[in-house]
Amino acid sequence: MNKKQQTTPLFDGLLAHINQSPVQFHIPGHKSGKGMDPRFRDFIGDNVLSLDLINIAPLDDLHHPSGIIQEAQQLAAEAFGADYTFFSVQGTSGAIMTMIMSVCGPGEKIIVPRNVHKSIMSAIVFSGATPIFIHPEIDDRLGISHGITTEAVKKAITAHPDAKGLLVINPTYFGVSANLKEIVNLAHSKNIPVLVDEAHGVHIQFHEDLPLSAMEAGADMAATSVHKLGGSLTQSSVLNVQGDLVSPNRIQSIISMLTTTSTSYLLLASLDTARRNLVIHGKDQLTKTIKLAEATREKLNQIPGIYCPGKELLNEHAIYDMDPTKLTISIKNLGITGYEVEIWLRENYKIEVELSDLYNILCIITIGDTEEKTELLIEALRELSFKQQTYIKEHQNEKVSVHVPNIPTLSLSPRDAFYANTEVVPLKDSAGKISAEFVMVYPPGIPILIPGEIIDEDNLRYIAKNIEVGLPVQGPEDQTLKTIRVIQERKAII
Ligand SMILES: Cc1ncc(COP(=O)(O)O)c(C=O)c1O
Repeated sequence: MNKKQQTTPLFDGLLAHINQSPVQFHIPGHKSGKGMDPRFRDFIGDNVLSLDLINIAPLDDLHHPSGIIQEAQQLAAEAFGADYTFFSVQGTSGAIMTMIMSVCGPGEKIIVPRNVHKSIMSAIVFSGATPIFIHPEIDDRLGISHGITTEAVKKAITAHPDAKGLLVINPTYFGVSANLKEIVNLAHSKNIPVLVDEAHGVHIQFHEDLPLSAMEAGADMAATSVHKLGGSLTQSSVLNVQGDLVSPNRIQSIISMLTTTSTSYLLLASLDTARRNLVIHGKDQLTKTIKLAEATREKLNQIPGIYCPGKELLNEHAIYDMDPTKLTISIKNLGITGYEVEIWLRENYKIEVELSDLYNILCIITIGDTEEKTELLIEALRELSFKQQTYIKEHQNEKVSVHVPNIPTLSLSPRDAFYANTEVVPLKDSAGKISAEFVMVYPPGIPILIPGEIIDEDNLRYIAKNIEVGLPVQGPEDQTLKTIRVIQERKAII
């Protein structure tokens, strides 16, 4: 390890600046908290407020880094095995939009799995790119979508060798990875850059028992949420870049176009210190985390009606590797929905899960967890299983069918649909019409419908089912979801 990885140039630069007690005639106007609501100031404390600074010359500028931010980004690039790292204060969503907009312009093709996060679809609308969808592998046992297979990528690349980029989610929200290296090699054989949504994989670079990271697999760019699993503050992410299929200068100018000019130094300093921690302590911390997660998985699997999948699911296709720190807990055999389990855990054990859907809850285990906490989760689920024992016994030989919605047909580019003349119709009467809006359940934020897709009865049933059980369906202007904006139909002239 380069000894410089022990240092935090950005955080230290900020501390050195504060220690000089400069007289501040610049924003932020609260001036280290003095001009702020006292209750909030007292709660968050002087240290935090003194770091809430702005891009004055001694503190460098994220838009044109040449000082302490540049040094911190270079250390991050070395840590992630990248040629360049760009800090993002617009979350991974901002980094994803930058990746897409730096390779695709209007009408150009980008190959993407359909089960992508809404930021990818937003970038497709902004750039005017044409998405070539690859259908993800659907898991009928769990009722979730995984990633894409090498075979599906091969088909898409053969049919669209002129694509300007291929986007891969690695790993998925549920911790599943495809054979990314093989996919990258395939795309590179046609000079197509590979863009990785690594929102759920900042830690995988730092432990050999975790799936290959985007940079290790040779991908060209990766948008990586340091804030989700890497110990930095919420909203702080990185965009890692390598190779010569993409231009770092163009990436710098696009990330700058999409970024606030008032960049938060709290977020930036947290990226600098998180990188140091991951390099120095990441491996040990992850070893403990993996052990705790595996022990929890084993105990969960002994509870009647509960299934927490692990390495037994691995295959040569979409489930090539798996991050064991993600506990996807299938509860479909308990006779209640994941959302009901989420509420029950909140009300009875004050446990908050990462997400729930119709058939599962997802719990993430990190270095912040202890055996005491995981034991509470196990105890809670044991009690719930006991409460449901009559249902479990009566249905034990039944195969519970899961419903994953059809992927609708795209009939217009998302951008054309987004800017077309539209009308509002009752959602229940919208089958056959073209959606002009996004509809998704958040989290995970994967669209059920995107602008340009033809709404079908199956989508409507799936939306209704999610609303009925109380899951957070979002997207349309009409938050009650009674109506949806669709493309206006032209009246026949005669
Ligand atoms: C798969 C995936 N990609 C991208 C994002 C966006 O990340 P962020 O919230 O940092 O903008 C998320 C957020 O949940 C996600 O789940």
